[in-house]
Amino acid sequence: MMKIIRAKDYKDMSRKAANIISAQVIMKPDCVLGLATGSSPVGTYRQLIEWYEKGDLDFGDVTTVNLDEYRGLSAENEQSYAWFMHHNFFDYVNINPDRTYLPDGMNPDAKRECTRYEEVIREVGGVDLQLLGLGHNGHIGFNEPGEEFGTLTHCVDLQESTIEANKRFFDSADEVPRQAYTMGIQTIMMARKILLIVSGEGKADIVKRAFFGPVVPQVPASILQMHPDVTIVADEAALSKCDCQE
Ligand code: GLP
Repeated sequence: MMKIIRAKDYKDMSRKAANIISAQVIMKPDCVLGLATGSSPVGTYRQLIEWYEKGDLDFGDVTTVNLDEYRGLSAENEQSYAWFMHHNFFDYVNINPDRTYLPDGMNPDAKRECTRYEEVIREVGGVDLQLLGLGHNGHIGFNEPGEEFGTLTHCVDLQESTIEANKRFFDSADEVPRQAYTMGIQTIMMARKILLIVSGEGKADIVKRAFFGPVVPQVPASILQMHPDVTIVADEAALSKCDCQE
C-alpha cells in the first residue's frame, strides 16, 4: 500500500520524515534503518540530530545500512557517501560506528563486494525502514532506468543525466565516478517499510510518472507501487503535477 503525505515545503517534509523515523526507533530501539544520501535527506538528518540533542531519541542500539556508494571513492574522500553520512548524521548522534554499513567503494572486486553487502543486510536481519530519495530520472539508490527489477546489490554504470545531476558536489563532471555500488531493486523491495521523501518542482514530473503512472523499468521508483508498506512524504511543489488532493 502506498500512502502519500503532503508537506508544505522542504522543512515540513523533513520534520514529517524525521517523525516517522523517530517512531520506528522508539517502537524498536534495535531496528535496522536503511539510509540514503543526496540533498533530500539532509534536513531529515538535521531534525533527528536536534531531537537526539534534546534527549528525545536514542540511536544506541540502531544499525544502519546505506543504499549506495561510488565505486573508487574511499570513506576519507569528501565526495564519498560514507563521508556524507558521517558529516550529516553519524558523528552527531550516539550511533555505534561499527554498526553503520555502506558498500565499500574501494573493493576492486565488484562481484565480491556485492555479495558481501547482501550478506551484511541478511546478517543484520533485513531492513525495518528504508529511507529513499528520488532521482530526476526516477532512480532509487543508483538503480538507473531500464535495468530489470529483480536485482540485488550490484555495480552500475551511472547515466549521463545522473553524472550531470550529481556534479554539483564535485569540482567538475569529470570527477564524478562513472560507477557505483547500489542495493538492487529487489534488495530495496525486501525492506519491511519504505519511506520516500521528495521535494521541489524539479521533481514534479518524475513524481507523477513514478507514482501515478505504469510500473515500468524505465521508471525504477514505479516498482514501489507494488510494495506493501510505502509512505511518500512529498512537498507541495513535488506534488504540483499530480491530481492527488487528499
Ligand atoms: C543520488 C543518490 C540517490 C538520491 C538521488 C536524489 O544520485 N544515489 O540515492 O536519492 O540522487 O538526490 P537528491 O536528493 O540530491 O535530489
